[in-house]
Amino acid sequence: MDKLQISTSGPLKGEVNISGAKNASLPILAATLLADGIMTIENVPHLKDVTTMLGLLGRMGVELTVDESTHIDIDPTRIQRFVAPYDLVKTMRASILVLGPMLARYGEAEVSLPGGCAIGSRPVNLHIEGLQRMGAQISVEGGYIRARAKRLKGATINLDIVTVTGTENLLMAATLAEGTTVIENAAREPEVVDLANCLIAMGAKIEGAGSATIRIQGVSSLQGCRYRVLPDRIETGTFLVAAAMTRGHVKTKNTCAHELDAVLLKLQEAGADISRGEDWIELDMHGQRPRAVDIHTAPYPAFPTDMQAQFTALNAVAEGVGTITETVFENRFMHAQELRRMGADISLEHNTAIIRGVEKLVAAPVMATDLRASASLIVAGLVAEGDTVVDRIYHLDRGYECIEEKLQALGARIRRIH
Ligand code: UD1
Repeated sequence: MDKLQISTSGPLKGEVNISGAKNASLPILAATLLADGIMTIENVPHLKDVTTMLGLLGRMGVELTVDESTHIDIDPTRIQRFVAPYDLVKTMRASILVLGPMLARYGEAEVSLPGGCAIGSRPVNLHIEGLQRMGAQISVEGGYIRARAKRLKGATINLDIVTVTGTENLLMAATLAEGTTVIENAAREPEVVDLANCLIAMGAKIEGAGSATIRIQGVSSLQGCRYRVLPDRIETGTFLVAAAMTRGHVKTKNTCAHELDAVLLKLQEAGADISRGEDWIELDMHGQRPRAVDIHTAPYPAFPTDMQAQFTALNAVAEGVGTITETVFENRFMHAQELRRMGADISLEHNTAIIRGVEKLVAAPVMATDLRASASLIVAGLVAEGDTVVDRIYHLDRGYECIEEKLQALGARIRRIH
């Protein structure tokens, strides 16, 4: 199994190109199931999760052509099987995103029920209840969600909790339903907006994506189209934290600055000098140690839970005491135990981590427990004294494209051990 070795690195310096967003690519790839013609999706990152989603579409009979410049041509018109099997869903929870489109387009779907995962129990009850409100017959047996509907019917769905993939599943299903669907308390994440924009380009009638109320007027069919996935805001944020922790000066390019407002505010509070244009962000620490910051995660536009682990690492070497309160997932502090092994001073009280910054972390063998936890261990490794070895980096490969190469280009001393 691959590992990463990270040695003490000086301040990161230079420019880095940001890849397409994983969390927008996955729902957009699932949305291709709705099309009556060929879809071309651009700026899709080369990631394990993307390969899993393509594998899932391929097994259903979707024809795929992938070229090396991250363009994917997808012909969903010859789909034969409406099943997302356990062996794929267990490796990627986002496989649940095929449920809504398959049901809406083909009237049936069978999707393995995702299990719990390292960051919490993560149920999908809101996906199921929303589809039931649209008239679907759904049973859960033998670990599978089995859904049927002649044609879904528009409904008003008020989500009890803001759910990103739940909103996306219902949004996709509603595009082909009869009548109007209103999703209330919808997720406002940029990736939801990107999906809606792709669906609109396919001919869907959607208003309000990006607000808490999305209104969808069902249409009888959707066409194929060409669509470019938006940049990855979490990858952007991760590189900026790496730059801040190493007291460096880095410019992220091909990104979308306004989607990172909450993160940039915290980096500024930590002492970073930030300049930004529409599609770039530059961070300069002027050689200074970061200051600890307090963070409270919540759905967009608040501070993203997917940046929480990286800021835990930042606080671990910052000046002062910072608290991090996680409100989205119940068990998202697995990285705290690993960072402690590197000398971080972190105590946990319920869903809050209290982090007292130390002058230096010390390298240790550590284990990645989930995708963003892996990122926090890597950025910690950059400033720790000695050689840090991060095990179980398959989590990292699910969500960061060419992370070693990109970090190396900024001066980081990192290498993959096979
Ligand atoms: C998505 C992102 C993930 C991010 C998360 C929160 C993708 C592929 N993944 O995950 O990177 O960390 O949003 O921003 O886009 N919940 C329920 N019932 C449901 C659905 C959700 O109780 O039916 C709860 C979850 O357990 C969690 C909260 O709602 O506590 C938010 O989860 P959700 O937004 O659904 O996360 P994902 O869409 O799985």
